[in-house]
Amino acid sequence: MRPTPFSTQIQSWYDKNKRDLPWRNTNDPYKIWLSEIILQQTRVVQGLPYYQKFIDSFPTVSDLANAQEQEVLVLWQGLGYYSRARNLHAAAKMVLSEFDGVFPTDYQNLKKLKGVGDYTASAVSSFCAQEPQAVLDGNVFRVLARYFNIDLAINSTPGQKYFKQLALDLLDKDQPGKHNQAIMEFGALQCTPKSPDCNNCPLNTSCLAIKHGKTDQLPVKHKA
Ligand code: ADE
Repeated sequence: MRPTPFSTQIQSWYDKNKRDLPWRNTNDPYKIWLSEIILQQTRVVQGLPYYQKFIDSFPTVSDLANAQEQEVLVLWQGLGYYSRARNLHAAAKMVLSEFDGVFPTDYQNLKKLKGVGDYTASAVSSFCAQEPQAVLDGNVFRVLARYFNIDLAINSTPGQKYFKQLALDLLDKDQPGKHNQAIMEFGALQCTPKSPDCNNCPLNTSCLAIKHGKTDQLPVKHKA
């Protein structure tokens, strides 16, 4: 099946504008999983040195599993949300005990790992194994809400369902990994939360938020 015009344009933008990030130069599910856990609630510039520290100290999932929890927590210092570090260590131990030390790359098995939810399982399975799973993170919500002018709250149940189905419909099933990376990068660099540079956006002629003057009002999020 041919990719949608949306996916084609996003991927073409990505080819020209993507950052050279270390976890994009590997297919190792352990490294990709590690990067995605670090990047939850953490910006790329802040997460990068932590990623390097972890890869240097624990080059394989076995190295991480066999470390003392304290060692892992010390390396994590400064990132906050320490449950992420505890889950990271527990998940590494699970890979040894339940998957013979072979890091899973399929969505179903990834979801069994401690701390791995729909986002992380979709990211790792699509990046490493080209499984047709669509990622939904803050960047993706913002890009879709604006491009399609959707005012359903991204943190409501109907909103989550709607955006998930839309993301899946748009996914390039032949290159789900690249498609997912591209839409996240587009949200991070071009379709930014504040003052997006719509004048220099390659999607500005088809973006419905621009057409309706709603860019600064989307996405909608209900107060928790
Ligand atoms: N944020 C979350 N995942 C990311 C990724 N794979 N690349 C860049 N930023 C991200």
